[in-house]
Amino acid sequence: MPSELTYLRVHNFRRVRPGTFIAFEPQLNTVVGRNGTGKTTLLALISAIVRNNVHEFIHEDFEIGFGLVDGDLSFEGVCRNQCSTRPGNGGSELLLSGILRHGELTIRINGDAHEAQLTYQGREQLTRSVGPERDPQRHAFELIHNLRLNLPDDDPTLRALKMPGPEGVAGDVLRSKSFTSTRIHEGVETFDELFAQDTDHRDRSPTLGVTLATHPELGKIDTKAVANGHHLTDETLLPQLDKQTSIIDTLTLDGSAPPLAQFIELSQYTDARLILTKTSATTKDGGTRLVFAKPVVRFTTTSGDELVHPQLSFGEKRLLAFLIKLHANRHTIIVDELANGMHHSWLERAVELLEDFGTQAFLTSQNPLLLDCLPLDRETYGRAHGLVVCELSSSGEMIWRNLDEAEREDLLRSLDVGLQQLSAAMRTKGLW
Ligand SMILES: Nc1ncnc2c1ncn2[C@@H]1O[C@H](COP(=O)(O)OP(=O)(O)O)[C@@H](O)[C@H]1O
Ligand SMILES: [Mg+2]
Repeated sequence: MPSELTYLRVHNFRRVRPGTFIAFEPQLNTVVGRNGTGKTTLLALISAIVRNNVHEFIHEDFEIGFGLVDGDLSFEGVCRNQCSTRPGNGGSELLLSGILRHGELTIRINGDAHEAQLTYQGREQLTRSVGPERDPQRHAFELIHNLRLNLPDDDPTLRALKMPGPEGVAGDVLRSKSFTSTRIHEGVETFDELFAQDTDHRDRSPTLGVTLATHPELGKIDTKAVANGHHLTDETLLPQLDKQTSIIDTLTLDGSAPPLAQFIELSQYTDARLILTKTSATTKDGGTRLVFAKPVVRFTTTSGDELVHPQLSFGEKRLLAFLIKLHANRHTIIVDELANGMHHSWLERAVELLEDFGTQAFLTSQNPLLLDCLPLDRETYGRAHGLVVCELSSSGEMIWRNLDEAEREDLLRSLDVGLQQLSAAMRTKGLW
């Protein structure tokens, strides 16, 4: 299960004011502020914590606190990277400490690259490292990769905490599928990443593709063995696989695949299909592992012509990338400048989808359009949705914060009256 980010506390990071604390709500979190106040930087940080990959910041010193919650499990941690002091260790040393809670049980974790100390119920245990796991080739620098709590089996409370799967309990609460919760950039970079045609197809590649396995006995696709690390989930794939009589060199998803169906609903196109090409087949133990990649989408126009994905407009590319990422991970989405290139009706629908899915979304905006599409009111503010304001102090420090009590009340009062839209109300109050 992916977890929800509840807060960030910045002790030390670039020019952010030390002690900065931002609370996040379970659904729409919108970050506003002028150019250069750190909105994109904040999203990068959120993405690093949510997907457990601090690769982007390995060459910097930082100390960040965070809270993650997944049902009954929660983790409050601090991760600290020190580059300057460890020139020999690839230039950095990442430390993680925190408390994992599950009901009455609390487990303290204190670790570095070599080992971790766990303390729970008066017992202490040394385990293997909880991180960092560094893999420059995969651009991964995982904080909590190895956090498998080797909890003793003789204790029923602890045994109940153990979950199936190799990651173990903490791994489950702290990990989310790596590439699906990268941030959607403000331009078409994410679209380009998704449609990259390179041939290096690892299961966790950021491109759009899929790894399938054939069943050793049946000789056909084993739908239980679909590896969906390439942005296509079971919900999108399985109904499509059912329709394919034989999959030889290509795999085609038709216009009913959710991201395509929603794109067709909103855009000028009447149909779309995604074609993936088989790029490798390896046989092991009688079963074959097939990788389908090199994504191409063909669109049908109202006049019956065909278009391919590189020909889409800027806004169409952004909408399609958004829909693909949203369906790849309905739990979490991180979108920089969602309103860029998007028509009002698209934005409204995008916000509606996020609400329907109950997605925890982190959005930024320079554009009043997005704010006016947000379902913010006295009922939802601070419960489901929230705002983060980014500012610069006179000395150039970045100040990231939620609204204070007075600002919040003032803003909600304007919204209660219903005469002012959110963007106008925020501008009047000097919040934006
Ligand atoms: N890699 C970096 N290291 C240090 N500072 C950076 C880096 N990238 C950007 N900055 C600084 O952070 C500021 C805020 O950038 P950004 O987060 O993109 O702002 P916004 O999205 O609000 O316009 C930039 O004006 C720049 O001074
Ligand atoms: Mg920005």
